Order: sequence, then C-alpha cells, then structure tokens
Amino acid sequence: MAYETITLDVDNHVALVTLNRPDALNALNDQLMSELADCLKGCQDNEKVRCIVITGSEKAFAAGADIAMMKDKSFVDVFAGDLFTPETDQIMRIRKPIIAAVSGYALGGGCELAMMCDFIICTETAKFGQPEINLGVVAGIGGTQRLTRLVGKAKAMDMNLTGRFMDAAEAERAGLVSRVVPVKKLMEETMGAAQKIAEKSMISVMVVKEAVNRAYEVPLREGLLFERRVFHSLFATEDQKEGMSAFLEKREAQFRDK
Ligand code: HXC
Repeated sequence: MAYETITLDVDNHVALVTLNRPDALNALNDQLMSELADCLKGCQDNEKVRCIVITGSEKAFAAGADIAMMKDKSFVDVFAGDLFTPETDQIMRIRKPIIAAVSGYALGGGCELAMMCDFIICTETAKFGQPEINLGVVAGIGGTQRLTRLVGKAKAMDMNLTGRFMDAAEAERAGLVSRVVPVKKLMEETMGAAQKIAEKSMISVMVVKEAVNRAYEVPLREGLLFERRVFHSLFATEDQKEGMSAFLEKREAQFRDK
C-alpha cells in the first residue's frame, strides 16, 4: 500500500513511522488511521523490523482526531461505523515494541495514540491534553482510561474536565512520559532507545510487552503468576543460554530469537 498521510523508513531493524498531515497538525482522519494500522501490521510481519517508532512534526505529534471530518457525523455514523475502533484494535495487537517520539502537541486522539505506544519520549516543548470537552464530546480512544491508569485520577479528571494541556515537565512528573529531551535530541534519543531494544532477543522483548501490559488488566497476584511463568518459560529458549553464557564469558550476547 502506498501511503499518503504517513511515511515509513526502515533502517537498522528500526521502523520509523512519521505522521504526515502537516496542514492539519497531523489530525487523525480515516485515511491516516487506516494507513497507520496497515503500516504497523506490515512492520509486525516484517522480520527486518525489531522496534517501531511513531513520530510527528516538531510542532505536532498529532492535534487529535480530525474535527472537520467528525463535525457533521451523526450518532449512528460514529456508532455503526465505530470510529477508529478497528484501527486502534489493530494497533493494540502489534506485539513488537512501539515508542512514541512526541514533539509539540499531542492532543485528544494524538495523546491517546501516544499512550497506545509502549512508552513516550518527548521534547521540552511537548504539550499533552484531552481537550475534547471543549468540542462538546469526550475522549474516545483511551483518554479517560489509559490516561487515568498512567497519571492517576486527579490529573486525568483535571485534564479531561478542564481540557488544559500538560507540559513536558508535568508529564514526566506524572509518569506519562519516560524521558524529556531538547527538541534537537528527540530522534537521536528515541532511535538510540529503539536500537538498544532491537539488539535484544525478540522473544524476551515481546514477553516484556505482554507482561507489563498485563499489569493493567489483572490483579497483582495473577500478574505475578503470569510473570513467573513466562520467566520460567524463557529457560526453554536458546537465547537464555546465550545471554547467560555471554555474561559469564564477558562478551556481547548474540541473540537469535530462538
Ligand atoms: C482538524 C485541525 C486539528 C484537528 C488543528 N487543525 N487541529 N484540523 N482537526 N484536531 C488544523 C487547524 O484547523 C488549522 O487549519 C491548522 O491545523 C493549524 O492549526 P491552528 O489552530 O491554526 O494552529 P495553532 O493556532 O498553533 O493551534 C494549535 C492547536 C489547535 C492548539 C493544536 O489547532 C487546536 O486546539 N486544535 C484542536 C485540538 C483538539 O481539540 N483536539 C481534540 C480533537 S477530538 P487551517 O486550515 O485553519 O490552517 C479527538 C477525539 C478522539 O481527538 C477520539 C476519536 C474516536
């Protein structure tokens, strides 16, 4: 599929997906969401890809769902059409790690898309928000749910009820982002993190993603049991033997995803 609203570059085992609707600050419309879901599925199936980075422009990661596209829709249009649900379900099924590299605005669906990624690295200029309340609606793809789990009820209520934006420093304090870097360093820092992940055993990497995400789905005791069992199961892999041998032999591990 040739993409018009995103670009894809695969280099050194990292897929860089760039949202590319500059005239609308990368607002998410049907075409962009469908291309993004298709592209990520392609990355999942592409053996050369071991980590994925999603980014936008310096001014905006994404300023939300496309308001012009939504304005005249009826309840039945969005209910029966299930706006963005198939695409977000597909994104959530990606088993390879996805990092969001956020500069500028990550608002509404843009903030929600960033939160669908496994972690967020942002610039000092980043602004996160769920301003849907200003449009007479509410967040629709995770802004009341993922944000609450990430930053807690107080800030999630504040952001969703007032529509105010959170700057990078607050986002880091609140646990929404893992790192804040100067604008010029965003891609170097994010691609460095992606590269580090790409060097690990893909089996362990995919297990980490499943296990951490499980922490949000199940009670602690069940989560700990899941973790213990996947830890045990990794002893069935060649990569466990290689990783531990390499440590003891004081050399770099050569993982083979087996
Ligand atoms: C459509 C958008 C847009 C959006 C910006 N634009 N955000 N178009 N949908 N979400 C367009 C503007 O209309 C404008 O087009 C151009 O991008 C530049 O935006 P400006 O407003 O002129 O820029 P600026 O003054 O710098 O303000 C930036 C901004 C503001 C603060 C980010 O654009 C803004 O508030 N945007 C809307 C944010 C928002 O409400 N997001 C939530 C959407 S609802 P023209 O043609 O005039 O140059 C949502 C629901 C998700 O996300 C759930 C789905 C299931």
